[in-house]
Formats: sequence, structure tokens, C-alpha cells
Amino acid sequence: MVVLVAHASEHGSTREIAERIAARLGEQGVAAQAHPVADVPVLTGYDAFVIGSAIHGGDWLPAGGAFLSSNRATLARHPVWLFSVSTIGEQSSAFPPRVARWMRNMMKVPRAVTAVEDEVGPQDHHAFAGVILPGHWGFSGRVFLRAFGGRFGDHRNWQEIDAWAMSIAGKLRSSQLGSG
Ligand SMILES: Cc1cc2nc3c(=O)[nH]c(=O)nc-3n(C[C@H](O)[C@H](O)[C@H](O)COP(=O)(O)O)c2cc1C
Repeated sequence: MVVLVAHASEHGSTREIAERIAARLGEQGVAAQAHPVADVPVLTGYDAFVIGSAIHGGDWLPAGGAFLSSNRATLARHPVWLFSVSTIGEQSSAFPPRVARWMRNMMKVPRAVTAVEDEVGPQDHHAFAGVILPGHWGFSGRVFLRAFGGRFGDHRNWQEIDAWAMSIAGKLRSSQLGSG
């Protein structure tokens, strides 16, 4: 079994999460390769897929959304896990805890995901917090972050990322055992 961990990343934090997931899968005996979505023109040779994108303007980066959409028929025949990286993760965020709780309740599943989820049937869609740097944001983004008490910095929760990767490894190993 080989797992593709495909990522769409503008400034690198999503790529590093994808590489960490691939490394954790490998340590669990599940061979995995992390590649930018643009570097994977065909999906032959992979048995399962973990696909993630940075969030810009509330949605996946165009390259990530296009990858999901154009490969949805293939993805529908395999186990698929999706993840999004933004200011708000399920267990960490750039905002104070009360603000983050409120934002999580308001958060919508990205359109790139809702557009394919019925057909692809992902096992899970997980939201992780990423790296937020002042140089990456325009004026209005910086005003928004400050207005809600947000902080620039690396908000990734590596324990959360590792735990998610381990849960994927566990499911893939048990499905292999079940089908073998
Ligand atoms: C132009 C731009 C737009 C963004 N839009 C959003 C957004 O709508 N919601 C959000 O929570 N984070 C937003 N972010 C924050 C990114 O999702 C976050 O920094 C993420 O870690 C970026 O991943 P990357 O390092 O892989 O590019 C935005 C960042 C940039 C640079």
C-alpha cells in the first residue's frame, strides 16, 4: 500500500504538515509520499490519499480545489482524508480561546470540499491552524487579525497533526488486514 499526501501551500506551512503526516504514516509501516498537487499529474500507483490545502479567502487554494475536482472519480474509489490549514484549527488557533470557539461555530466547510464530498466520500476533513506572518497579509487582513485579538506566529499543533496521522495509519492497517 502506498499513500499519496498531496498538498497545496502558498507559504509552506501546509507543505510541512503534509510532510509530517507522510513521515508519521511511514513510521507506522504505511508507505507514504508527500508531493505538491501540481507535481502529481496521474494518481496511478497510489492506494489511498491524504489531500490538504491552505485556506485563502475562506476556500482552498485554486490548485488544491482543481486537484480534488479533476480527480474526484479516481478518489471516489479509494480511501481519502482531507485537511485544511488556516487561522483556526480544531485544537489550536491564532485567536484567543473564546474567539476561536465562536469562529469554529461560524466556520463553513470550504467550497472545494463541499463540491466533491458527496462523490468522493472522504473519511474525514480536519482543520489545522497554520503559520500566520504579517508579511503574508494585506492591510485588511492585519486589521481583521488585530480586531479579534489574533496573534501572528506558528499556530500548528504538532500533537494534533501526529494524532490525526496515527488515526489514518490505524484505519489503513486495519482495512488491509480486513481485505487480506
Ligand atoms: C492571502 C491570504 C488569505 C488568507 N485567507 C484566510 C482566510 O480566509 N481564513 C483563514 O482562516 N486564514 C486565511 N489565511 C491564513 C492562511 O490560511 C494560513 O496562513 C495558512 O497557514 C497558510 O498556509 P501555507 O503556509 O501553506 O500557505 C490567509 C492567508 C493569506 C496569505
